[in-house]
Amino acid sequence: MKYAFKILFLIVFIQKCSCNLEVTKLREVLTWKQINYEIDGILYNRDASYKKTTNAVYFDDDIEDREKYFVQYNNVPIGLEVWGDKVFVTVPRRRYGIPSTLNYVWKAPWKSPALKPYPGSEDLVSVYRPRIDECGRLWMVDTGLLEVPGDRKQVRKPSIVIYDLKTDKRILRYELKETDLVNERTPGGLTSITVDVTKNSCNDAYAYINDLATEGMIVYSLRTNTSWRLNHPTFQHDPAALNFTVANYVINWKDGLFSIALSEPDAVGDRTAYYHPMVSNQEFSINTKFLKSGDIGNNVKLVGTRGVKTQTGSHVYHAPTKTLFFANPAQDAILCWRVDTKMAPENVGIAVQDHTKLVYISDLKIKADTLWVLVNQMPKFVFSKLNTSEVNFYIHSGKVQDLLRDTPCGLRLLPTHSNYF
Ligand SMILES: *[C@@H]1O[C@H](CO)[C@@H](O)[C@H](O)[C@H]1NC(C)=O
Ligand SMILES: *[C@@H]1O[C@H](CO)[C@@H](O)[C@H](O)[C@H]1NC(C)=O
Ligand SMILES: *[C@@H]1O[C@H](CO)[C@@H](O)[C@H](O)[C@H]1NC(C)=O
Repeated sequence: MKYAFKILFLIVFIQKCSCNLEVTKLREVLTWKQINYEIDGILYNRDASYKKTTNAVYFDDDIEDREKYFVQYNNVPIGLEVWGDKVFVTVPRRRYGIPSTLNYVWKAPWKSPALKPYPGSEDLVSVYRPRIDECGRLWMVDTGLLEVPGDRKQVRKPSIVIYDLKTDKRILRYELKETDLVNERTPGGLTSITVDVTKNSCNDAYAYINDLATEGMIVYSLRTNTSWRLNHPTFQHDPAALNFTVANYVINWKDGLFSIALSEPDAVGDRTAYYHPMVSNQEFSINTKFLKSGDIGNNVKLVGTRGVKTQTGSHVYHAPTKTLFFANPAQDAILCWRVDTKMAPENVGIAVQDHTKLVYISDLKIKADTLWVLVNQMPKFVFSKLNTSEVNFYIHSGKVQDLLRDTPCGLRLLPTHSNYF
């Protein structure tokens, strides 16, 4: 009798926890059905043939989408960064009618604010996932590519661009070298940038850029203002991990190196760089000293296998808990793994999962003890059609301690189910 009561209580408790998982672990900060812009004080909330100069009502001429200034449906946010109350949202130019690729909004008070172009970003062609470093600088790769299917145009050379966030002034545009690029597909693969500020100074920083298209890494040194390309079999997708599904669509993308996450520095200022191709269930690592010297050959390590359906995009490291968080589109989830445990499926946990609000996590960033997540339903956009009457794009945030609750990565506040059943 006593036991029956205890078990009943546990069942109720466990069910309650799983029903409320999303609600208790993540908070919806921003949501959009469709993206609007506010540019030079003018609101764009439907297609516009031209850039407007007044708030007067414009009737759109019957021109083709390729000529239009703004085609609302084509604007899909992909990258995220957070700087105080400012949230950066990028919209890479993968379709016609994208008025601005690097934008920002304020966290409050609006839940679906219009995007504003970041000052001085008008000449950027296309930006994926930017990164803010500990010196208050915003780094990104401008791919220089208009990536419209069937009408790709390399408008300018791919470049690293840096802004100083305190002054909103651009402080660098560095064009990548010919030797950094493999072929005309490479620029479209430069979808994220990881910044490593060494212990010497802000000027002694490195950037590690993933190339998922031609499957390599590009390293840039700010101090010497030069770049080099690295190739390794572990930067390539694993054919055995192809064809995972998201929202019932089979993802056949052959994406190689997707994300590079850095540990805290060691005594001499080097870090562990964790990385993976998107199409892979494995994680690899290398000490950053070898990325800096270009000598990666025998220095790559297989960290381990995360498990089935763990193909992941962006990942980030939270130093105080020694935990990596992974965007896991194959399970509509965020995974966690503590780097001081063996990487094996039983030690890789689902921190949070939601089959509506976490369908295709496109970017993930960590600020102090808060994880930020951008979700964009990309497979639905690519293979089907978004329903513009519903929320399609989300930015959520969650506390690390909440996300780790009831996972193999955190303190176990509740006994595991297997102890009882
Ligand atoms: C960095 O190098 C590029 C050429 O590769 C040059 O155009 C640029 O002026 C240099 N920037 C600095 C700050 O030295
Ligand atoms: C993925 O799909 C392609 C095309 O259907 C097929 O040829 C290939 O064998 C599949 N690979 C895996 C690992 O399922
Ligand atoms: C789109 O979403 C609206 C609101 O949820 C719903 O009423 C409508 O049926 C949906 N349309 C389609 C085609 O699914």
